[in-house]
This record gives sequence, structure tokens and C-alpha cells, in this order.
Amino acid sequence: MKIEGSVALVTGANRGLGRVYARELVRRGAAKVYGAARDATAVTQPGVTPVGLDITDPELVAEVAVRCADVSLLVNNAGVMQASTFIGAPSLDAARLEMETNYFGTLRMCRAFAPVLAANGGGAVVNMLSVTSFYTNPLDASYGASKAAALSLTNGIRIELHHQGTLVVAVHAGFINTDMAALVDAPKISPESVAQQAFDAVEAGQIEVLADERTRFIKASLSRDHELIYPPVQAFWDSAVTGS
Ligand SMILES: NC(=O)c1ccc[n+]([C@@H]2O[C@H](COP(=O)([O-])OP(=O)(O)OC[C@H]3O[C@@H](n4cnc5c(N)ncnc54)[C@H](OP(=O)(O)O)[C@@H]3O)[C@@H](O)[C@H]2O)c1
Repeated sequence: MKIEGSVALVTGANRGLGRVYARELVRRGAAKVYGAARDATAVTQPGVTPVGLDITDPELVAEVAVRCADVSLLVNNAGVMQASTFIGAPSLDAARLEMETNYFGTLRMCRAFAPVLAANGGGAVVNMLSVTSFYTNPLDASYGASKAAALSLTNGIRIELHHQGTLVVAVHAGFINTDMAALVDAPKISPESVAQQAFDAVEAGQIEVLADERTRFIKASLSRDHELIYPPVQAFWDSAVTGS
């Protein structure tokens, strides 16, 4: 689909990657860009229309789908990462918040906007996933589980929405230079690069973006994950746990 002239909605548009997604949509000539955020007053970019939205609130999501009934491009960007292990975390709270936001929140948005997209000619959904949709890193283990669930959701809605002509794009990245990865000392891709690759994919009708080298390596290694992916992860974790 063409972004020029489209009407887009980006979740989590107040900061980080979502802010850059919204800016890139304006730059590419979208007719209207709704910038959805829990605090709508924090969406201040020129050309972006603020919308109050918490994706974990079913009533708000339903209201926004009515209010933004002209949307043809839905960018499900909002997400949380609690840096939580499966066994060592003090409770299930982090895992539940990540699943409630990254999986159920995204699912809720897809369900609410599927008829809106159909009414506007099919359009597209961009789901912001992660390299951890493909494999488990103990540093953000329960986050990875929620992103794996969101990948399953993305593959499923692509099948379910095909008949109405909706393109469903999965965007995977390793570390991105935003608040979420602020404490990480490792190579990071810029949010601008992720946004450009995502919207190039939308315009080209491409269903998957593997935004950086690490993500491309992990995806290419999945059929041999226990040889190529997990041994270094295990070695890193064992040395972190034993301090050696
Ligand atoms: N940064 C990375 O290394 C990285 C890598 C791969 C994928 N991702 C994914 O990229 C997306 C954007 O992340 P980011 O890097 O920009 O992180 P970020 O800087 O922490 O921003 C997260 C955004 O999501 C919003 N959000 C969180 N929970 C929400 C909710 N319940 N309803 C509505 N908005 C909510 C936040 O709003 P508030 O300001 O209200 O908190 C914020 O706008 C996420 O899906 C993330 O999982 C990030």
C-alpha cells in the first residue's frame, strides 16, 4: 500500500520508536497520523493528531476504533519490557504486565481495527515484534515469551485478514536506541532505521522485516538453534550466575 495519502495510527507515539514511526509517516505524506499515547498531551509532533489510548483498556480501545474510523494503517508499537527472568523474578507481575501489554494489548487493537481496515480498503497492520520473538534470552525472558506470543498472533491475523486485503507486517529488531534499551551496553540500531525499513516493507507488500544483523543471524539459525543460538547464551548466563 502507499503511505502517501493514507491515514495511520501509531500506538506509543509519545516517545521512543513510536514517536519516530509517527514522524516518518508524516514525512512520507500520510494524510493523517493519529499519535496514540497513554498521555495524549505528550504527543507534540507537528502533523500528528494526539489520541489518548492505553492498549490494555478494552473500553478505550473500542472508543478509539470508533473515533479513528478512517484508519488504513495500524502500527502496533506500544510495548513494555521488565527485564525479568522466569525463575528468579520475585512474582509473576512482570510476566503478566508484558503479556497483557505486548500480546493481549496488540491482539485487542487488531480485533478492534480489523473491521476499520476492511471498511477502508484493507490497508495494513505493522506489529512491532523483537528478535526475542524467535529465541529466549534470560535477561528479558518473560518479555520474549510475550513477543513470541505476539509473533504467533501476527502470523495468525495475516491468515485471517487475507480475504479483506489487509497486509500484515512483522517487524523484528534487536536492541534499538530508545529508553527501553537505555541500560544495555551493546550495538543498537537507530529507531529511524527501523521505521524506514518497516514502511518500505509496507509500500513493497513485504510481510517481514529483520531490521539488523543480529536478528537476521538468529532467524537464519533457527533450524540449528541448540547448536548455534543457545550455547553462547547458556555460557553467558552461567558465568553471570557464578560470577566467573
Ligand atoms: N528498544 C529496543 O531495544 C526494542 C527492541 C525490539 C523491539 N522493541 C519494541 O519496540 C516497541 C517500542 O519500544 P521502544 O523501544 O520505543 O520503548 P520505550 O521507549 O520504552 O517506549 C514504549 C512506548 O510504549 C508505550 N506503552 C507502554 N505500555 C502502553 C500501554 N499499555 N498503552 C499504550 N502505550 C503503552 C509507552 O508509553 P508511556 O510513555 O506511557 O510509558 C511508550 O510510548 C515496543 O513494542 C518494544 O517491545 C524495542
